[in-house]
Amino acid sequence: MDQPTKGSRIPGFYNFSLEERLAELGQRGQLSSEDLAVLSGAAGLDAAQADHMIENVVGLHALPLGIALNFQVNGQDVLVPMVIEEPSVVAGASFMARLARSGGGFQAHTTAPEMIGQMQLLDVPDLQSARLTILEQKKSLLEEAGEIDPVLKKLGGGPRDLEVRMIEDSPVGPFLVIHLIYDVRDAMGANAVNTAVERLAPRITALTGGRVHLRILSNLADRRLARARCTIPLSELAFGDFKAETVRDGILEAWAFAAADPYRAATHNKGIMNGVDSVVIATGNDWRAIEAGAHAYAARSGRYTSLSAWGKDAQGNLVGTLEMPLAVGIVGGATRVHPTARAALKLMGITSASQLAEIIVSVGLAQNLAALRALATEGIQRGHMSLHARQVAIAAGARGEMVERLAQQLVAEKTVRIDRAEAILQEWKT
Ligand code: MEV
Repeated sequence: MDQPTKGSRIPGFYNFSLEERLAELGQRGQLSSEDLAVLSGAAGLDAAQADHMIENVVGLHALPLGIALNFQVNGQDVLVPMVIEEPSVVAGASFMARLARSGGGFQAHTTAPEMIGQMQLLDVPDLQSARLTILEQKKSLLEEAGEIDPVLKKLGGGPRDLEVRMIEDSPVGPFLVIHLIYDVRDAMGANAVNTAVERLAPRITALTGGRVHLRILSNLADRRLARARCTIPLSELAFGDFKAETVRDGILEAWAFAAADPYRAATHNKGIMNGVDSVVIATGNDWRAIEAGAHAYAARSGRYTSLSAWGKDAQGNLVGTLEMPLAVGIVGGATRVHPTARAALKLMGITSASQLAEIIVSVGLAQNLAALRALATEGIQRGHMSLHARQVAIAAGARGEMVERLAQQLVAEKTVRIDRAEAILQEWKT
């Protein structure tokens, strides 16, 4: 093994054995042997703990946990844990992080961790007058909401604003929607927000004479945004027979497709979410909430479009940006209960939810670049094939060294199919 470095560059990591990879993480100092055992899968969440998390538990479901290398976010190197079943994602993120690194890495920031709690107010005799009543009482309503969660209050969180929207056209007639804007600090915030809107609802009913129906958080967390930017030096883009300008312009054309066409944008954004979700899951966060928020945000103009944008700077370098809602937490929920999520946060040295969101949005941007670069040049299948071939080899029954040997044979034959893999295994046995 090479001399360990403190940063996120670990040359040859791909070729290390599982044990060597864990030893490399161990040498970095921030993880205990217990944390390493958890990351390795030898320890971690057990069925008894899981039994307290959801209902009717019968066991656990495992997924691969890989480490993305080369990431530098806001000048800090970070090793990023990714949980995903799809081949090429971890390698793609790591490779693009290396290209971005030579342009200064990722610059990322977040807006305040403000979530939106919604109250649906029905049966008000006069919408305008009810709206004004609520707005007139805003100060006292916010004061009341501020007393609901003393822990959050102590941490500097709590209600920030109250907005009233009018839905004029709906199948049940016009109604009001009240948004409670709530700063949830380092939590994902669903519990805090849902509690707050449930507690505030009787006051709204009393004030307006209407009926508060739904009281629930919105996953379109468009006040809790994360943004990342990276610059890829033009010279880094050339590879094989592809000239740097060809790769850059191909990426710009690929992005233009997603920007203009919802059918392409859905796939383009799926690629971004390959990176985002992997880290969201590794850290025990709610990936359905993140998915819902991301796609709703992508459609905020009324037409579904790309979450990222690509362009070039005055020197002709490729510049990428990504902006999306990222309601992730590092306290509460599974983030603190799940041993692997705890170890994942520790590996990254995360001390705030915004820091986590900044890393996640950077990984999303890297993943997007990996997909666009491949699609705009040699196509996606080439890179996918060898990893896919390994999965097919395992599914066909290969084990140990046989996996790699069979995978290589399938790729060489350009027939990565289970029936062929089984046939080859059979031939090798006889
Ligand atoms: C596959 O999981 C993700 C991609 O389809 C993303 C894209 O097309 O941009 C490769």
